[in-house]
Amino acid sequence: MASLELVSRSPEQTRTLGVRIGELALAGDVFLLVGELGAGKTCLTQGIAWGLGIKEYALSPSFVIMRELHGRLPLYHIDLYRLAHMEEIADLGLDEYFYGQGICVVEWADKALTILPEKHLMIKISYLSETERNIKMEPSGQRYLELAAALGGIKKCKWR
Ligand SMILES: Nc1ncnc2c1ncn2[C@@H]1O[C@H](COP(=O)(O)OP(=O)(O)OP(=O)(O)O)[C@@H](O)[C@H]1O
Ligand SMILES: [Mg+2]
Repeated sequence: MASLELVSRSPEQTRTLGVRIGELALAGDVFLLVGELGAGKTCLTQGIAWGLGIKEYALSPSFVIMRELHGRLPLYHIDLYRLAHMEEIADLGLDEYFYGQGICVVEWADKALTILPEKHLMIKISYLSETERNIKMEPSGQRYLELAAALGGIKKCKWR
């Protein structure tokens, strides 16, 4: 499987990648975000929100699992951090969002991979230094291969 990788050297660069993703997003798209605490998942989500024309801040949904924001398309910002068991996640009934007409961004998606949509763009963010992050995008499914190909036009992206 082809994946796309780049190094972000600032929160602004991460948000800019997010804006591009938000601009290219189509109804029903699912973005699964993986990375440790403070990796930059919410920072990337903020960019996606801006790319969808959303003016509000995509703060981590602290005491809620899901926050809905409204732009060109609805953005369902889901954060699984506080959930420990797969059953709890399954019980949330998130499928109406995953298979609906909005965009889903899921932070801590690795907690529930087996029950999340099989077709998605996985985005793995890892810490390189105080201000640098490696961002790896792994598409599953034709739609996401095409999206990744479009994102591959971004300067400094490279295919692996
Ligand atoms: N290149 C970078 N890309 C993204 N964030 C960066 C970068 N360099 C530094 N940062 C900082 O890292 C932090 C990322 O925080 P953010 O809330 O986005 O992480 P998170 O992955 O959502 O964490 P959590 O698991 O707690 O939700 C911010 O303080 C941001 O300013
Ligand atoms: Mg977060």
